[in-house]
Amino acid sequence: MKVLVNNHLVERDEASVDVEDRGYQFGDGVYEVVRLYNGQFFTYDEHIERLYASAAKIDLVIPYTKEELRKLIESLVAANNIHTGNVYLQVTRGVQNPRNHVIPDDFPLEGVLTAAAREVPRNEKQFIEGGTAITEEDVRWLRCDIKSLSLLGNIMAKNKAHQQNALEAILHRGEQVTECSASNVSIIKDGVLWTHAADNLILNGITRQVILDVARKNGVPVREADFTLTDLREADEVFISSTTIEITPITHIDGVQVGDGKRGPITAQLHSYFVEEIVRSCGELAVAK
Ligand SMILES: Cc1ncc(COP(=O)(O)O)c(C=O)c1O
Repeated sequence: MKVLVNNHLVERDEASVDVEDRGYQFGDGVYEVVRLYNGQFFTYDEHIERLYASAAKIDLVIPYTKEELRKLIESLVAANNIHTGNVYLQVTRGVQNPRNHVIPDDFPLEGVLTAAAREVPRNEKQFIEGGTAITEEDVRWLRCDIKSLSLLGNIMAKNKAHQQNALEAILHRGEQVTECSASNVSIIKDGVLWTHAADNLILNGITRQVILDVARKNGVPVREADFTLTDLREADEVFISSTTIEITPITHIDGVQVGDGKRGPITAQLHSYFVEEIVRSCGELAVAK
């Protein structure tokens, strides 16, 4: 397996980064996960726009143009022969010796890019059968719109879900539901799709944006607005979304069944619209055996 370290493709075992990299010491950096189907990127530009936007919000300069970055990522995908899989890429603020919270203004740090690509098949069983979730207080910072490397709040919530054999942790600030530890959450109530507005309290998922787009195009009413834990518990359908899990139904929350405990009809319909978008940009998907 080959990985990218700056503009070099190197064997995974031979790759190294500096111990005084600010990404390693402070979580000072940003990242993205981009998906490929049939060897083609899906919503690549949207992910890369968000990467540069996240970087700009923390005054981090990505040391490559978007064109240069695309060539590097394409070389990584080709070197690992990825068909259906994920590219993880991150850019840190770079190496600072000695360690100091203050970002030096007298000399620019060189941002450090690392990236890895892996084959990850679509989990069609999970798309249909769904998974369970717990609810958890959202204790993260107030800039969740930045796809930051610092993910302690997300990790602790996700791990708690895992310990309770649940797929995800649905986060809430008091009564208001925000998103999940590694995905966005939407509910269907009386035929209307509800999801938190794209503000500082959530990461504006690229998958979320595609779903809202196909919902609007196909006449599913959308409300981008706060909803409460009570709305969540009384929803007809609940689903979570992200680049890797596409649209995954949530069948139980804190042990209580959602609707009839099966993927709901609007969730299924939205997923078929979503797959049409994938097929449009990446070609037909292989049928699961
Ligand atoms: C906290 C959080 N929210 C939402 C998402 C969904 O974003 P996307 O659809 O762009 O993968 C992710 C994805 O990793 C995430 O970590």
